[in-house]
Amino acid sequence: MQKVEVQLGERSYPINITHEFTSLLPELAAAAQVVIISNSVVAEHYLQSVISLFEQQPLHFLLPDGEAHKTLASFEQVLSFLLEQRMSRDLVLVALGGGVIGDLTGFVAACYQRGVRFVQIPTTLLSQVDSSVGGKTAVNHPLGKNMIGAFKQPEQVVINTAVLQTLPQREFAAGMAEVIKYGLLGDRQFIDWLLQHAEAIRQHDASILAQMIRHCCQMKADIVSRDETEQGERALLNLGHTFGHAIEAFMGYGTWLHGEAVAAGMMMAAKLAHSRGWLTAAEVEVCSTLLMAFDLPIAPPPTMSIHDFLPYMKADKKVKAGKMRFVLPTALGKSSVVADVTESELLQVFA
Ligand code: NAD
Ligand code: GLY
Repeated sequence: MQKVEVQLGERSYPINITHEFTSLLPELAAAAQVVIISNSVVAEHYLQSVISLFEQQPLHFLLPDGEAHKTLASFEQVLSFLLEQRMSRDLVLVALGGGVIGDLTGFVAACYQRGVRFVQIPTTLLSQVDSSVGGKTAVNHPLGKNMIGAFKQPEQVVINTAVLQTLPQREFAAGMAEVIKYGLLGDRQFIDWLLQHAEAIRQHDASILAQMIRHCCQMKADIVSRDETEQGERALLNLGHTFGHAIEAFMGYGTWLHGEAVAAGMMMAAKLAHSRGWLTAAEVEVCSTLLMAFDLPIAPPPTMSIHDFLPYMKADKKVKAGKMRFVLPTALGKSSVVADVTESELLQVFA
């Protein structure tokens, strides 16, 4: 088992990376009230194994599958279930699934009776390398992605890499977009490592996957430990997301997977950086080569013009004093938050 720690003082917690479901902290395994939140697809594969981790039989609540259900309506359904079952503040919630279930369950955990403990058991590559770590929780609104949420750290993250065997290929690729993001935002050596191990990753080599997931969790844990509530450095984790969130919302949640939208968004960020002289054409090509190695899109949907992006980008959570802010690569493997991108520059670069 590999272990990464998110260092947040009294709220520090472990991320355990194994190839089975066995590393639950004893105080969580012994909890008197446990409710597992999952969806129908994931539950069919893994619900029974996760139930057996607990000393007393937990309850479970299953949502329909998909990003389209990461809504206030689902949030309310889960809360109603917990109230109907008379769950108290001793409750431990368990998020068993990908980022959709993790984000929604975390938001319920932040709000139910003003906050209860929760555990993340992420089952997609994306959620294992990114969304289960760091305590960002949210639901979507038709007017914007992740617009309603809270910071709520889990008590533990339990990563079982074996579950990736049942993950559809398209979902695995979407997770690779967030993996590549770590290299592009701040780790040139990791870009080289990914290029070198692309074939092994595509073949799901267990040891290489475990190394890769651990590296991403360590990078995220370090950033979150330094800047939990995104006052500065944590914003770098949103590389590609300002463009990406616009794609997801414009196309209809679930049409483009989050990771696919982030991949296209990172290429748009790279092109903007190139037009500013920060990336060479060859470096932009390294970005596209890496994304294409995992069958990810390198351009936005052909039906979307830059005019379609603008309303979403102007409502982005990074906007400050009415100014759009973008995370852009300033070199290959380095990035920065940039506040001086204007509408006319965007129109010029992406016309
Ligand atoms: P997802 O949760 O929709 O899961 C993708 C699909 O895979 C679903 O159909 C799911 O049922 C299925 N699935 C999950 N695990 C499986 C398994 N082991 N075997 C077979 N099928 C499985 O999508 P996702 O990509 O995991 O998460 C995307 C969400 O994460 C987005 O809403 C995004 O906004 C959010 N996110 C949050 C953060 C954060 O910091 N909180 C970071 C990145 C992304
Ligand atoms: N995925 C962005 C963050 O956790 O900050």
